[in-house]
Amino acid sequence: MGKGPNRSPAHSFLHACHIRIDTAVSQQTVFHWIYSPMTDHRLSATDISVEFSGLRALDHVTLDIGKSEIVGLIGPNGSGKTTLINVITGQVHPVSGSVSVNGNEITRMLPRKIALKGITRSFQIVRLFDNLTVVKNVETTALAKGASRKAATALGLDLLAEFGLSDFADQLAGTLSYGDKRKVEIVRALAGEPHFLLLDEPAAGLNEAESETLLSILSELPHRKNLGMLIIDHDMTLIMRLCHRLHVLSSGKTIGQGDVDDVRNLPEVIDAYLGTGESEGVENA
Ligand SMILES: Nc1ncnc2c1ncn2[C@@H]1O[C@H](COP(=O)(O)OP(=O)(O)OP(=O)(O)O)[C@@H](O)[C@H]1O
Ligand SMILES: [Mg+2]
Repeated sequence: MGKGPNRSPAHSFLHACHIRIDTAVSQQTVFHWIYSPMTDHRLSATDISVEFSGLRALDHVTLDIGKSEIVGLIGPNGSGKTTLINVITGQVHPVSGSVSVNGNEITRMLPRKIALKGITRSFQIVRLFDNLTVVKNVETTALAKGASRKAATALGLDLLAEFGLSDFADQLAGTLSYGDKRKVEIVRALAGEPHFLLLDEPAAGLNEAESETLLSILSELPHRKNLGMLIIDHDMTLIMRLCHRLHVLSSGKTIGQGDVDDVRNLPEVIDAYLGTGESEGVENA
């Protein structure tokens, strides 16, 4: 978190909020008009609670995403963000609550079945097959969905081109730079042709130029691919510029959600980043 010199995570968050307010409010409003969510096509996680050996990692969290919408899931380290994606994609079973897509319940389904329902993800720690070529890594997702080898290769090559990765198609994934591996991780999720794409820290470890490229690619995806997106990241500048809505977790609980500009002013959110009791005077931070 925090790419600027001498900038703490808290100040990165607050600084990014102000960049958004100063430069991007009208863009966001226009985006909402163009890409307003369809009410009949939603991914919903309702009243989700998760426990790990007595630790409550999520506590009655409810979040939903519409088609064509980009929702940012933010919060301090250990607040439950990855766990929520794990619940949605079937890697973790909640002790209570339900997940549904377009009104059909998918709670506790196997991850590969959930992927077939059109929900795919990238992982916080990149999970490529280092000894397979880049295009074969991407193909695996399309093949798992039932595509022919030929169609899977064609889709893989198209997606790699969209991400500027064509030159690496026949290279072993293990030889890529960290930034390019992260991009392939996203491409691989897209090869499942998802209705909802869940990205866990896609910009982690990217330099500023790479983050900027990623931002422009991601911002177009919902419209171009007709999908909804949930994105976790600690790069608040990216989150503020990309997302239509935010959902904020702290210690497993929702402490704020809604429009970016509303959420940034919530004392609970500011305290979660600055530490309890420091929300006064935040307007000037
Ligand atoms: N498989 C697990 N077993 C036990 N505890 C877990 C497991 N997965 C997560 N936790 C715990 O649950 C809490 C939430 O973890 P989670 O990974 O969801 O946080 P996060 O918000 O994604 O954090 P970060 O920003 O550091 O990635 C943490 O206390 C974490 O240690
Ligand atoms: Mg995480």
